[in-house]
Amino acid sequence: MFLRKLVSVIGREKGFHSTKALLEAAIIDGNNIAKQIEKEVRTSVESWIKSGKRRPKLVAIIVGDDPASKVYVSRKVKVAKAVGIDAETITFDKSISQKHLLKAIENLNKDTSVDGILVQLPIPKSINEREICEAVTPAKDVDGFHSENMGKLSVDNDSIVPATALGVIELIQRTKVDTFGKNAVVIGRSKHVGLPIALLLHSDSKGVSGALDMTTTICHRHTPPEELKKFTRLADVVVAAAGVPGLVKKDMVKPGACVIDVGITRVDTESGQKLLGDVDYESVKEIAGHITPVPGGVGPMTVVMLMKNTLKAARKNQS
Ligand code: GUN
Repeated sequence: MFLRKLVSVIGREKGFHSTKALLEAAIIDGNNIAKQIEKEVRTSVESWIKSGKRRPKLVAIIVGDDPASKVYVSRKVKVAKAVGIDAETITFDKSISQKHLLKAIENLNKDTSVDGILVQLPIPKSINEREICEAVTPAKDVDGFHSENMGKLSVDNDSIVPATALGVIELIQRTKVDTFGKNAVVIGRSKHVGLPIALLLHSDSKGVSGALDMTTTICHRHTPPEELKKFTRLADVVVAAAGVPGLVKKDMVKPGACVIDVGITRVDTESGQKLLGDVDYESVKEIAGHITPVPGGVGPMTVVMLMKNTLKAARKNQS
């Protein structure tokens, strides 16, 4: 009671309209941090070109007509252009065969004017996704999904690291959250998101990937809800990447924890489409120390880290 009163007095002095507002989590503004990184990447691209190198070029492939994929890729192209990277989109009909898609990727692998290639996921079920990820030559694999890049990441060798994982780590680091020796939980074990995030959270900060030295647990669809809660309540950092809207509730979060929401589920509402995160934002912000919103948290970070990867790929391809 005394503590609440004290907080209330300090809060009023600092201009907070209520004790509740003062006690709420600080919002991690992904749009703002991504803008800062965008400027940094633009500066790096300019000096790369001033040193006599060719402007980096990214090619994005869309297969089919998934509206969300079109939105994501057009955002990637827009940010690429904003940082001085050439970007092109190639769209294939959903009926394209595996063989034809592989051939198109092979041509881009050989094209010396192209530095980065990405195949926007999901792709139609008729196509083997892993085989497509393996077809992109590792030096141009700006998604970092090739097993060579994933393998290098897991043994802490220099590699192209998946952009969402890089974005999550960057948000945590730029927010100056204390991570060394602390506990982290990743909810979701997908190979392209949950797994690389967990690798970066637990690995050695002195290693090449600049990881966070956290004691890291991966929970997933087969973790019973009561067990999930036991793990998350011990976590100083919770990264929710399960694709289950509202999965993380207030009673699952340790007071003061940093909660990063990677989930983006599109739902139709009467007023149009809405994006839902994996975190029950309104309740969790009452207990967390830091929280990312959806949208405006991890999403813009993924796009800008992809640009960092494209510049990295240009350095590999043009050396
Ligand atoms: N679909 C959703 N996220 C991603 C991503 O980071 N890369 C690609 N290629 N497809 C995606």
